[in-house]
Amino acid sequence: MHLPVMLDEVISSLDLKPGHIVLDATVGGGGHSLEILNRIQPGGKLIALDADASAVEKSVERLKDFGPYCKLINANFRNLDTVLQSEGIDGLNACLFDIGVSSFQIDDVVRGFSLKHDARLDMRMDPRLKISAWDVVNRYRESDLSDLIWKYGEERFARRIARYIVNARGEGPIDTTGQLRSLIHRAVKGRRGKIDPATRTFQAIRISVNDELGALTEGLEKGISYLVQSGRVVVISFHSLEDRIVKNMFKARAITGDLKIITKKPLTASDKEATINPRSRSAKLRVAERI
Ligand SMILES: C[S@@+](CC[C@H](N)C(=O)[O-])C[C@H]1O[C@@H](n2cnc3c(N)ncnc32)[C@H](O)[C@@H]1O
Repeated sequence: MHLPVMLDEVISSLDLKPGHIVLDATVGGGGHSLEILNRIQPGGKLIALDADASAVEKSVERLKDFGPYCKLINANFRNLDTVLQSEGIDGLNACLFDIGVSSFQIDDVVRGFSLKHDARLDMRMDPRLKISAWDVVNRYRESDLSDLIWKYGEERFARRIARYIVNARGEGPIDTTGQLRSLIHRAVKGRRGKIDPATRTFQAIRISVNDELGALTEGLEKGISYLVQSGRVVVISFHSLEDRIVKNMFKARAITGDLKIITKKPLTASDKEATINPRSRSAKLRVAERI
C-alpha cells in the first residue's frame, strides 16, 4: 500500500484555491494528486506526470472522476516545459515534486529496486531508458563504478565494492540483485548495523541509472520558472543529496529575487506518521514562493 507522504503538510504548503492550475511532477499512486484535485475544483486543472508508465496507468483509474480537469502524462519531469507547452499552459499556481521511488515500484519484484527480493538487475523508472542497473554493474569501468558508489551512495567502502564487482565479473555476469547484494556483503564483511550494507550501493546505482540528480536540477529549475507570482513550489526529498540540491537552488533563486523561502528548515513527518508509514521517516519537505 502506498501512502502519500506528509499529505496535510503538502496540501497546506501548496496554498491551493479553486481555479488553480497545478503540476504534480510525480503522480506515483495518485494520493497527493487526488487531494490537490479536491482543493482546486471548481475550475482548476491538474497536470500530473510520472516517468513510470505503470504509475500513470494506476492513477488514471484513481483520478478518472475528474475527467478533463486532470491530465495524466507519462513523462520525465525534466521535460515538463515541453509538456506544459503542448498543454497550452504558461503559468502554474503550484508545483509538487515528491521524488524518489514509490512503494509500488519497490514492491514490484521484477523491477529490481529492492534489496529484499531477488530479481534481474534493472532499476529503471522508465523502462524506455537505454541503460539499466545490469549495464552499470556489468559494463562500467572499475573507476567509474567506484566514483558513482562514492558520489551517489556516500559509501566509504566504494573502492572495495567496485573491486569486488569487477573481480566477480571475471567469472560471469552479475545478473541479479541477490548476487550483487551478497557480493557487497562479502566486500564489506564485518560491517554491522541496522541498515543492510548493500543499501548505499543500491541507492547509488539507482540514482545513476535514472540520472535522478540531473533530472531534479533540470525539473526544479523549469518548474520554478513556470510559477506565477505567489505560486508555490513544494519538494519532498528522501536523501541528503537531493535535499542539498533543493536547498541550494532555493537559496540561489532567493538571492536573485525570484523566490521567497517559506521553510527555513525542512519540515519532517510527525512521529505519528513515521510510525504508520516508515518511508516518511527520511522525508524532508521544502517550500518556496515565487515573488
Ligand atoms: C514517491 S513517489 C510519488 C508518490 C505520489 N506523490 C503519491 O501520492 O502517490 C515518486 C514517483 O516519482 C516518479 N519519478 C521519479 N523521478 C521522476 C522523474 N524524473 N520524472 C517523472 N517522474 C519521476 C517515480 O516513478 C515514482 O512514481
